[in-house]
Amino acid sequence: MKKTVLITGATSGLGYEFVKLFANDGYDLVLVARNTQKLEEIKLTYSNLNVSIISKDLSVPGSAKEVFEEVESLGIEIDFLVNNAGFGLLGKFDELDINKQLNMVHLNVMALTELTYYFLPKMKKKNFGKILNVASTAAFQPGPLMAVYYATKAFVLSFSEALVEELSETNITVTTLCPGATKTNFGSVANVEDTKMFSQAMNSSNVAKTGYLSFMKGERVVITGTFNKIGAYSAKFLPRSLSAKIAKYVAGEK
Ligand SMILES: NC(=O)c1ccc[n+]([C@@H]2O[C@H](COP(=O)([O-])OP(=O)(O)OC[C@H]3O[C@@H](n4cnc5c(N)ncnc54)[C@H](OP(=O)(O)O)[C@@H]3O)[C@@H](O)[C@H]2O)c1
Repeated sequence: MKKTVLITGATSGLGYEFVKLFANDGYDLVLVARNTQKLEEIKLTYSNLNVSIISKDLSVPGSAKEVFEEVESLGIEIDFLVNNAGFGLLGKFDELDINKQLNMVHLNVMALTELTYYFLPKMKKKNFGKILNVASTAAFQPGPLMAVYYATKAFVLSFSEALVEELSETNITVTTLCPGATKTNFGSVANVEDTKMFSQAMNSSNVAKTGYLSFMKGERVVITGTFNKIGAYSAKFLPRSLSAKIAKYVAGEK
């Protein structure tokens, strides 16, 4: 039977790359993002597949449940869940807008958690499913000047790895993708394009492809790029205070 994937943040960057990868392999799609026009354009591109689009601002409380209810009302069963939508913000915690930072927590953490919660029971019932949660190399250390963003991604990694263990007796896999700086709209939204961390940004199609292949194999955690792997592993051995200083340095201007 044909499998269906739900992808959040499907309209640009990594999410759109995931759309192309799943579509090329013939999966049906449920695409979620705010930009309705872009969602409709993508749907038209893949007229050979069943594509459902859901325009939703996932930073709004209750929105993830509404997505689940819409999927249910369409009679669609989700086999693969890709929790990709997210954004970051550069600046000192107390100087950034609190509402934008709370929206970020809601999108990066709450929506991802809720969507996983709502779609998991049916995966468990049929003992099949795959979940891809997009974290970041930000997950591995504290991130001064992007304090809330780094913390949201630490949550995603910790939550996802815990689920791997909870689901170890099932045929359901949870993969956490941890990209480093990648060329998407993220840079301009977060205002990090002129920072040192973005001077070596990777190509989004390569990052998504690596994530996709690891997801299909059911791998636990995937860090994209050799430099990012070294950074993430060394963060495990460095004192957190030193890791935080390095993160602050790379968040500075080039
Ligand atoms: N690019 C990087 O350097 C990088 C590095 C590490 C991790 N990541 C992570 O990768 C994921 C994808 O980001 P990206 O780099 O591909 O950035 P992007 O190009 O800005 O894409 C973000 C996607 O999320 C959607 N989105 C944003 N806010 C939303 C909201 N409130 N409700 C629903 N959808 C929303 C956007 O669509 P609409 O505008 O249509 O809503 C868009 O499709 C994020 O979780 C990000 O944290 C990115």
